[in-house]
Amino acid sequence: MARILTGIQSSGVPHLGNALGAIEPALERAQQAENECFYFIADLHSLTSLKEPALRRENVRAVAAAWMALGLDVERHYFYLQSDVPEVTELTWYLSCYTPYPMLANAHSFKDKQDQLEEVNAGLFTYPVLMAADILLYDAEEVPVGKDQKQHLEMTRDIAGAFNHQAGQELLTLPAPRIDDQVMTIPGIDGRKMSKSYGNTIDIFAPAKTLKKQVMRIVTDSRELEEPKDPDRCHVFALYAHLAEGPAINTMRERYQAGGYGYGHAKKELLRVIHERYGAARERYEALMAEPARIDTALERGAEKVRPIARATLERLRAALGFGSR
Ligand code: AMP
Ligand code: TRP
Repeated sequence: MARILTGIQSSGVPHLGNALGAIEPALERAQQAENECFYFIADLHSLTSLKEPALRRENVRAVAAAWMALGLDVERHYFYLQSDVPEVTELTWYLSCYTPYPMLANAHSFKDKQDQLEEVNAGLFTYPVLMAADILLYDAEEVPVGKDQKQHLEMTRDIAGAFNHQAGQELLTLPAPRIDDQVMTIPGIDGRKMSKSYGNTIDIFAPAKTLKKQVMRIVTDSRELEEPKDPDRCHVFALYAHLAEGPAINTMRERYQAGGYGYGHAKKELLRVIHERYGAARERYEALMAEPARIDTALERGAEKVRPIARATLERLRAALGFGSR
């Protein structure tokens, strides 16, 4: 049984890039019988930048609804909200006292902001320690993350190692990072990496009209309908290739090359496979968002399931560190 853990940013409604690049691969791991998954929404981390409570709540619900709608089995696994397990902040304190200052000062996430230090709060500076606590609190063995989180994982291992060394025993489990170097990059409607910050997303959970508009706005060249087209230089085709089955992809490729097939046709076909693939998930998403109590209940149950594990870890550490009056 491998214990897999990863934190999910609560940055709004997930788009097609998030679904294909992050959520679906994580769900695949969750489907393997030998894995026990801890997937949590990192809302405490969001406070380093987002200060608006209503927006935080809305984002958390949207992200949770998306994971549930896409098929995470919240009964079998552990799906929870970071802030529902405040034990993590206690562990953050302990760990921070084993974290050398230069290690944090060298974190890319902090260094990138060094020329605007007045905008840096202490939370942003210690962000990696909270992340280490997220992982170490649950003795996670495997932590799948993107390349950008690699350094944070190394810091987690260093902090745990320093802690164990001082304690003279293996109190904390060193997690193995699982870094997918070649996660596919899903292009957005302008061909750049699909990203909320570029405004080029395909929002699979948006109302049908919005979704259609986004697909129809995918940038193409101005070749006429009759002309042959190069599928490998077309964002519509690239997206289609991520979503359709092999034979269907080949058919579209041949149509492009033959001519007489317009970008409008390709976009319609793309929209059709999006609905085919995500139709049921879209319905589940809407139902969940219409009844957010179901989302909240799932997260509450998730927190109830993980809290005893968190408490046990802390008891172990408190005893080893000499804390508490008993
Ligand atoms: P973000 O909220 O942009 O940090 O993305 C959350 C997760 O989705 C990360 O694991 C990203 O690697 C993944 N992701 C975001 N955008 C894309 C994209 N265009 N293609 C593939 N994966 C993406
Ligand atoms: N920092 C991660 C990100 O920006 C999110 C995260 C928080 C996380 N805690 C974690 C990822 C623990 C893995 C494990 O994507």
